[in-house]
Amino acid sequence: MAKRIYIETYGCQMNEHDSEQILRLLERSDYLETKDAQQADLILINTCSVREKPEQKVYSALGRFKKLKEKKGTIIGVAGCVAQQEGWRLLERVPYLDLVVGTHAIPSLPQLLEKVLTLGEKVCETDFDPEGRYLDPFLPERPLSSVKSYVTIMQGCNHFCSYCIVPYVRGKEKSRPSQEIVEEVKCLAQKGAKEICLLGQNVNAYGKGMKEGIDFPELLSKLNEIEGIERIRFTTSHPKDLSEKLIQAYGSLKKLCEHIHLPFQSGSNRILERMNRGYHRETYLEKVHRLREVCPSIAITADVMVGFPGEEEKDFEETLDLMIKIRFDDLFSFKYSPRKGTTAAGWSDQVEEQVKQQRLSILQNIQKEITLQKNQALVGYLEEVLVEGHSKQNREDVTGRTRTNKAVNFKGDDHLIGCLVLTKITRAYAHSLYGECITTWKKKDPLRGKPDPDELGLLEGIPS
Ligand code: 5AD
Ligand code: SF4
Repeated sequence: MAKRIYIETYGCQMNEHDSEQILRLLERSDYLETKDAQQADLILINTCSVREKPEQKVYSALGRFKKLKEKKGTIIGVAGCVAQQEGWRLLERVPYLDLVVGTHAIPSLPQLLEKVLTLGEKVCETDFDPEGRYLDPFLPERPLSSVKSYVTIMQGCNHFCSYCIVPYVRGKEKSRPSQEIVEEVKCLAQKGAKEICLLGQNVNAYGKGMKEGIDFPELLSKLNEIEGIERIRFTTSHPKDLSEKLIQAYGSLKKLCEHIHLPFQSGSNRILERMNRGYHRETYLEKVHRLREVCPSIAITADVMVGFPGEEEKDFEETLDLMIKIRFDDLFSFKYSPRKGTTAAGWSDQVEEQVKQQRLSILQNIQKEITLQKNQALVGYLEEVLVEGHSKQNREDVTGRTRTNKAVNFKGDDHLIGCLVLTKITRAYAHSLYGECITTWKKKDPLRGKPDPDELGLLEGIPS
């Protein structure tokens, strides 16, 4: 009889994708996913340690599963960045934990599990794998349940920003051969994917150090040709490595969506230098200007931190100034938190928690207003939406995203899931848009994905 796996995922998209890969891999060892931890034979917590919160979550999650271990002997494991970082310490600290699987050890999970089951041993595997076997995908055998799929194209990072744990827990940059990525995307398209999101800690570094001599924009061109795929996105990119060639790709590749996530972290050159980011605010502003020249409708989102060691009021004001100048479509903002083992964690000029909190609130209030204004500016306009599923708030609504990655809800039923739909935006909120379905269309205008009126499924009702 099939065994059941329950997996809880915290953190970034890379982690979400790793969890999906774990499920596909263990399906081959007869494990089926359950959404109910009580029913599980194996519980895995897949975590991220980039910011403090996810790390704390691991310990509270483990606490919740202690009773299950006592009652049913459920196998409990931790995977991901926290597993990589803590290793045996986790097993020592949590006596009912059975398994620790580092970021490069996922392919060995069936063998590690076997060891736990047959020998009754606690197992910890956190070695880095220079061969890159952890990058080999587990392709889906069944039709996909989602129209969106993630594809890892590279992993790791060579940048060593002074606050960041990633290079320590994900290892050095390593890219996958392009042909392998193309084959994976073709397979995902056959299984129903309409949109792919390419993942990597720094996708702009794709291809570096590979014999193939291919770069990220060239990879995008190859993927743009794959039939069945309507949209291509990627995350995340480093401003320093954002090349003119990639900017140009926004003007020439039809499937590349008009959105870029480009973390800026701080608007102060002094802080950027201490962060070891390798660019200045002027370079960032110039790159955004070029992106908007090439692709005027591009949505720009970013990550930003407040309270980095040594951040003074005037540095923070420069961050606000940059945000206001750029008017991001959305921002992910964080309070700096020291990560053990990183350079900045050892600095003595840490900023007080209260100051961090104040700065974060100011920044978030300003951004909330900008996001709302940007959303309001779309009211009355037409937007192409790829329908992903039912809305969580209202069963009569479906939900999807614009090419600029904004969530849109509108009245509609099941048959629209997976379709490209032309919607008219009628209402704007801080985190989403509401619209009405004008039509689904068969083909798009060759220019930048706008609907071609001659090809619309239904012509009536389209506002002029
Ligand atoms: N503290 C707070 N935020 C961090 N990030 C990375 N490291 C830290 C840290 N030590 C944020 C950065 C990064 C995002 C993924 O997480 O903004 O872009
Ligand atoms: Fe971390 Fe900097 Fe690498 Fe991004 S570029 S993963 S912030 S070290």
